[in-house]
Amino acid sequence: MEIIKKIKDMQHVIKIEKQKGKKVGFVPTMGFLHEGHQTLLKEARDNNDIVVLSIFVNPLQFGPNEDFDAYPRDCIRDEGIAKNLGVDYLFYPSVDEMYKGERTTLIKVEKRVDVLCGKHRPGHFDGVATVVMKLFQIVSPDRAYFGMKDAQQVAVIDGLINDYHLPIELVRVDTVREEDGLAKSSRNVYLSEKEREKAPYLYKALILGKEKVLEGQKDFLKVKKDLEEYITLHTGAHVEYLEIYAYPTLQELQAPMEDQNIIIALAVKFSKARLIDNIVFSYNKGE
Ligand code: PAF
Repeated sequence: MEIIKKIKDMQHVIKIEKQKGKKVGFVPTMGFLHEGHQTLLKEARDNNDIVVLSIFVNPLQFGPNEDFDAYPRDCIRDEGIAKNLGVDYLFYPSVDEMYKGERTTLIKVEKRVDVLCGKHRPGHFDGVATVVMKLFQIVSPDRAYFGMKDAQQVAVIDGLINDYHLPIELVRVDTVREEDGLAKSSRNVYLSEKEREKAPYLYKALILGKEKVLEGQKDFLKVKKDLEEYITLHTGAHVEYLEIYAYPTLQELQAPMEDQNIIIALAVKFSKARLIDNIVFSYNKGE
């Protein structure tokens, strides 16, 4: 595995790989790699000639109250994981390298951001879209891998690729779950023992919601209310939001249409942990 810190060097090696006809799979991350990232890397390894992993904690996507400096970093551990998973190039630029000189443009995401978690993080997805566009220009991937745990981010990247006609296949990778269905997350450690026992009810609620919709329940307000009650009853935690939208447009759905992709997404606050999860399925065929 080669570690590359300069944009020009990264562009140079990719140019050479592409001249040899190699297909490039790209996994952009902010490091501190967990099982979700590892799944993305395995998928990329299985389906491409070359795998590029980027680690860059992007200051542009942190709000004024979100602590960029406190974001966890462990490059030695990350390097070991990347090497074990067969990464070819680890792109690891500094902030100065990525934001050299005066920035004169910013990608403003106009759709898919004023709902779910994006509603409370103004500007966050502008920062994500801008840095992902920069990384795409540096790595020129054939395929880019993103986890569906953050379904809103995937929806934003989908829009970016379409809007700018990028010749990149967006690969959505399913959320990695514990055996009992709880979505894996570094935040799960903040659950008390009792809360951890109850937390699988979030995914159970999502599956129940999917069943209700596929069975033909068209009153989504009622479905949402029923699911919220189900979660409150079984976990005692506070449901911050539970929404049903079209996916990836994240538009309000009055009633589902044939072949419509639907997302049910939630955020639930336990005493210390705030957990998010979602399920995406097609209205006709099931998931
Ligand atoms: O999901 C992340 O880790 C980041 O938002 C991403 C896509 C690497 C952009 O900084």
